[in-house]
Amino acid sequence: MASTTPNRKLLAWVEHWASVMKPADIHWCDGTKDEYDMMTSQLVELGTLIPLNDDIRPGSFLSRSDPADVARVEDRTFICSEREADAGTNNNWRAPAEIRSQMLELYDGCMQGRTMYVVPFSMGPLGSPIAHIGVQLTDSAYVAASMRIMTRMGQDALDVLGDGDFVPCVHSVGAPLTDGNADVPWPCDGENKYIVHFPETKDIWSYGSGYGGNALLGKKCFALRIASTMARDQGWLAEHMLIVSVTPPNGERKYVAAAFPSACGKTNMAMMIPTLPGWKIETVGDDIAWMKFGEDGQLYAINPEAGFFGVAPGTGEDTNPNALATLTHDCVFTNVAQTEDGDIWWEGLTDDPPARLTDWTGETWTPESDKPAAHPNARFTVSAAQCPSIAPEWEDPVGVPISAILFGGRRATTVPLVTEATSWEHGVFLGSVMSSEKTAAAAGAIGEVRRDPFAMLPFCGYNFGDYFQHWLNIGSAKGAKLPKLFYVNWFRKGDDGKFMWPGFGDNARVLKWVLERVNGGGKAVDTPIGKVPALDALDVSGLHLDDAVIQELLKVDRSEWAREVSLIEEHYAQIGDSVPVELVAQLESLASELQSNV
Ligand code: OXD
Ligand code: MN
Repeated sequence: MASTTPNRKLLAWVEHWASVMKPADIHWCDGTKDEYDMMTSQLVELGTLIPLNDDIRPGSFLSRSDPADVARVEDRTFICSEREADAGTNNNWRAPAEIRSQMLELYDGCMQGRTMYVVPFSMGPLGSPIAHIGVQLTDSAYVAASMRIMTRMGQDALDVLGDGDFVPCVHSVGAPLTDGNADVPWPCDGENKYIVHFPETKDIWSYGSGYGGNALLGKKCFALRIASTMARDQGWLAEHMLIVSVTPPNGERKYVAAAFPSACGKTNMAMMIPTLPGWKIETVGDDIAWMKFGEDGQLYAINPEAGFFGVAPGTGEDTNPNALATLTHDCVFTNVAQTEDGDIWWEGLTDDPPARLTDWTGETWTPESDKPAAHPNARFTVSAAQCPSIAPEWEDPVGVPISAILFGGRRATTVPLVTEATSWEHGVFLGSVMSSEKTAAAAGAIGEVRRDPFAMLPFCGYNFGDYFQHWLNIGSAKGAKLPKLFYVNWFRKGDDGKFMWPGFGDNARVLKWVLERVNGGGKAVDTPIGKVPALDALDVSGLHLDDAVIQELLKVDRSEWAREVSLIEEHYAQIGDSVPVELVAQLESLASELQSNV
């Protein structure tokens, strides 16, 4: 397929990289179903994709990656700004000129014997003022086919681009077919992975991995790391957040965004089925939100992605029935197990495992095996349009107005079920100190706490202190009508080591209080860390929770928080001098609040 773009910069860029990487041919992706079918048939022939039983799961495939290429590689991910200080202590940094010359040696001839796919894509609904265009070069048909699911990919994106600017993304699996070498199902260079971002020139170079966020460059690399620097420069927000539409029984729909670290149930919340009668929750996005100010001063959000790249293990009828209903056809599964009748399985899909499986490495597996059948980071790739809970407005180019933003993490102790920030600055403080404990944390004991500000630790493309300042600046934008900010924790445990809050669909009860607060109602009481619901303010009808448990869920314990303050001091010290003075002042006022009125 030849190019159909008038964009000279794009044509010159493609030509330049073809001369460096020396592919056997070049294919400009048009994004059609025919093209997808052509790519998947080639992948089936090569053994990269295994068609699943068409009677059970039509149009779907299983893929097994190289065991050396199974996840995002944070230690091989670099933010290469001119100044090291601009990358911050939260990132691995290399000097741009140095890493470019090092990688050019790897890129030289790296696509020999392969096709170079030119993949134009829109992050966000085509033509949306909040969306942006990227173009990825890749020598992986698996990546090109996955990009068709995860983004609006092909000629339509080129048409929107016209003569304009795009984020250039270069990707190679780093496995040239020279000297008649035969291809393998999952080519990669396990020894030499580089996931590299250049915030000043806004481009991305990735080498050596074919997996997920390392290789589908629209997702974490563009939509978070590079977009966070675009957002800083242009006055908007690119965040690691789900977006849901919440409709109470009175029909007054509102939109809520929420930031949680990986493995804290973001996809489950995005597809939640509320237990409160008459309430409806619909999915706008499950992983990333881009938010820009509208003319009315509100923040409007889009989900820049078109698909879900979700963690499969743990997804079951009891945890996320909407995800399972999304996965009934036309999906790509990577590193899950295969059943004897040619379907898929993973831990948590059913209570009892099948008697015999093929595990993610291709070996026979039985329940007696001492290893999991699916890799813990096994994934599904599926179009968001297939999700039964998808909100009708999820593709609205205008975006959806955000009324509330939740920050959260997994904490067995200390952090109440929900806290409302007392101001934007206080909310930014709460986002900046977000944390999660190891899930194995013992009841009542304080486990190891990892700080993950705004859930952006692996994804912020610049210095965290400057990023916090950007959040403060958003709060003082002229005419801004800001969402309210909240901090939630579904994971508090009682002395018996059990979760005190049922979670999942019952989290809608917390959303109910959040919306009451947004609408000027909902009873709240002041604590040193913000406003928590009054004891009778949460709708717990039908839950049979003792008052003592509710009290415990909402408790702000001064000695626990005194310890927390010293952990936050360490966290800020680790980020360094760039932490804004307003946030240091917030921390000081928390410390003195804790000491007063005892
Ligand atoms: C993801 C992650 O894959 O956050 O979405 O790790
Ligand atoms: Mn994520």
